[in-house]
Amino acid sequence: MANSNLKEAKAAKNDEFYTQFHDIEIEMNAYLEYDPNVFRGKTILLPCDDPEWSNFTRFFAAKFDELGLKKLISTSYAPDSKKYKTPYQPSLFEQEAPQFDSTKTSVKGKIFVLEQDKSGDGRINIDDLEWEYLEGDGDFRSKEVTKLRDEADFIITNPPFSLFREFLAWIMEGEKKFIIIGNMNCITYKEVFPLIMNNKIWLGIPFPGGNAYFRPAMQNDYAVGVYDEDTNLVKFRNCIWLTNVDHGRRHQPLSLMTIADNLRYSKHKEIRGKETYDHYDNYDAIEVPFTDAIPSDYDGVMGVPISFLDKYCPEQFEILGITKAWFGSASKIYPEQIQVDRHGKESKVTKLNDGAVLLHSEVPQNETYYMVEGKYYTQVYARVLIRHIKS
Ligand SMILES: C[S@@+](CC[C@H](N)C(=O)[O-])C[C@H]1O[C@@H](n2cnc3c(N)ncnc32)[C@H](O)[C@@H]1O
Repeated sequence: MANSNLKEAKAAKNDEFYTQFHDIEIEMNAYLEYDPNVFRGKTILLPCDDPEWSNFTRFFAAKFDELGLKKLISTSYAPDSKKYKTPYQPSLFEQEAPQFDSTKTSVKGKIFVLEQDKSGDGRINIDDLEWEYLEGDGDFRSKEVTKLRDEADFIITNPPFSLFREFLAWIMEGEKKFIIIGNMNCITYKEVFPLIMNNKIWLGIPFPGGNAYFRPAMQNDYAVGVYDEDTNLVKFRNCIWLTNVDHGRRHQPLSLMTIADNLRYSKHKEIRGKETYDHYDNYDAIEVPFTDAIPSDYDGVMGVPISFLDKYCPEQFEILGITKAWFGSASKIYPEQIQVDRHGKESKVTKLNDGAVLLHSEVPQNETYYMVEGKYYTQVYARVLIRHIKS
């Protein structure tokens, strides 16, 4: 098998990336700034976790008293059930515990509970964490973990990337408050976008520069993402926090320029100097290729990049749909289309029927375009369709 294939196979299975403490701290602080009592008296479940690996338990255990938590539960997934195998050795913490069982350690999940001051030092913290083996392997879909979900007020974790859809559905089915990590692409999923559109869920605070750094289970593991040897961290592009817990940033409206000012002064050469914004050929909306180029005075529908959702303020805009992945309302079907790639190679396709389309008066340069009945078209990236809310 070619080396590249091996890498792909590995990447598809690898869910073993661990969240950094300070990323968790930055995110949780945003909810706490908005409502200092957001977690007070609440039960938090951290599924798909493992305190020996994960910082979610460390963070909430350290802040148990300060946040006024009622109960912290975290569950881990059995090493033998993990799709991506790494050498397994039970930790000293586990081996030295009276309940240690060598027949269970690699096939059972574990539950860790923090609820009371066991050590008698007058504080509830990580020293008071109690654990035992679960009946099963700790799969979040199992009856026993689902029961814990039902007991909890909040579900907080970085779930397995490969099971994201199922994980979110599991949370929504339980009607729980949640704060989880996912990939920006998940926004386009049929199961996710309608929830965002209807303000049932939204994005948390962005990772700095859109880059998230996670610790891999094994050093030098760069099967997915970009591995940095100096830090032993793997960089992932386009990771987001997804949540239904309110925070202040989503209520800060974007400050925007008028259409005229954008066309005159925009920092983007694609906008500056144009006569007007481009209008889609197959949908009544203008193309706005950059979030900071959204005009303040356009009353109609605008197609904006998906990354707009990082800055989406529901008091400023309403979301009407998304092109391409889940369009629903394209108003035109294009007949026979010839796709011409950058090198001039031609092929018959049906791609224009899926997504927002621009009509060009001249042959587009340096990009793939489509010829339909002698006219030239390009298709734009997936766009979120939005409109200003008039005060
Ligand atoms: C992306 S890692 C994150 C781990 C930890 N929550 C953190 O953020 O540091 C996801 C974890 O979920 C575990 N996992 C995979 N499938 C699972 C399942 N069906 N049920 C529970 N956990 C699962 C993986 O083994 C992995 O350790």
